[in-house]
Amino acid sequence: MNLELSEEQKLLQRTVREFAENEVKPLARELDETGHFPRETFRKAAELGLTAVALPESEGGTGFDHVSYSIVIEEISRVCASTGVILSVQNSLYCDPIHRFGTEEQKAKFLAPFARGEKIGCYALTEPQAGSNAAALATRAVRDGDHYIVNGAKAWITNGGVADAALVYVNTDPAKSEKGITALVIERGTPGFKVGKEEKKLGIHATACTELSFTDCEVPAANRIGNEGEGYKVALSTLDGGRIGIAAQAVGIAQGAFELALAYARERQAFGHPIADFQTIQFMLADMATEIDAARLLVRKAAWKQDTGSRFTTEASIAKLFASELATRVTHKAMQIHGGNGYSREYAVERMYRDARITEIYEGTSEIQRLVIAAGVLKSF
Ligand code: CAA
Repeated sequence: MNLELSEEQKLLQRTVREFAENEVKPLARELDETGHFPRETFRKAAELGLTAVALPESEGGTGFDHVSYSIVIEEISRVCASTGVILSVQNSLYCDPIHRFGTEEQKAKFLAPFARGEKIGCYALTEPQAGSNAAALATRAVRDGDHYIVNGAKAWITNGGVADAALVYVNTDPAKSEKGITALVIERGTPGFKVGKEEKKLGIHATACTELSFTDCEVPAANRIGNEGEGYKVALSTLDGGRIGIAAQAVGIAQGAFELALAYARERQAFGHPIADFQTIQFMLADMATEIDAARLLVRKAAWKQDTGSRFTTEASIAKLFASELATRVTHKAMQIHGGNGYSREYAVERMYRDARITEIYEGTSEIQRLVIAAGVLKSF
């Protein structure tokens, strides 16, 4: 593993940093206040190839590796965590599984326009009564000729309110528990498919995070991704890549908050000095810098392992666990350095503090990451 980014990766990083500064950052506060999904930014991100960074060009992707993908999500999240996760879901949770498990016909219909960012996708696993215990999902699909009849409800679906299609996990054989789980692409507008209420959340307000419901919803069997009963593997292997996206999002939020805290510490005067002169502030900045560096290396290591083609489940969970808990610590310290101002909506650290918290919860809580890591290390040592 080479720790130095390639020239191509550095160029991508500079390009995305510029895009984030010019197009994403100016809208971040407004998105937080209104909760409006940033469609125009999504369109511009698609023009830059950020909707399927690590997919082959033959499938509508941009043809970079996953280390590059992690850089993209970090740079966008550094200025706007909502936009970061919107792109992460499009790349990792929708496009990636269709790339890995879809047939050529399915890719032409359900992947290429999404990879190019002409359409938006979402990933519908979680249900009101099945979060960490994803195997307990209760959405049912019954085969009827060349269709499935789907009934059930999904919850907390990022991009759900705007998605043109959802990759929905259903159970086609409940007696087999998780071995009955099957993945179906369900298009918006299919009779019986309804978008439900949007969640009112602490942070990442602009992610169109909604419930989805299916009532006698007729879905062509041709929309099945993989075989019946393979859905749990599709879902969990997809989350491996998704967790790298969330870990990169967490590093981006932490980096953004750190930079603001550093600038504030240099400017803010107390007791006749900039507060950066005080060791108590310097120690906070030192801890923040150290942990961000460690988290970024873990994210890049996991992405590098993904690029080798080997299983990277443990590395992805390690990166997500460390980066998400670090984002909470760093944004906490960044607010502390800002003092009372940091608690005000006038300062972006207030938003970052709220946005960071979800990274410890979605795509598997920290507790689930610890279970996955423990299983991995017990197997390999
Ligand atoms: N890749 C491929 N296969 C995998 C896998 C992976 N990463 N993990 C497990 N599997 C396979 C196993 O090999 C096993 O297959 P066999 O039976 O053929 O051996 C099968 O799947 C079951 O594996 P486990 O027994 O290890 O799985 P489990 O049922 O004990 O549960 C779990 C594992 C870790 C609890 C899992 O259910 C999990 O990760 N839960 C959390 C769910 C989650 O992260 N949800 C996030 C929702 S999406 C979201 O949040 C999006 C958003 O808003 C942005």
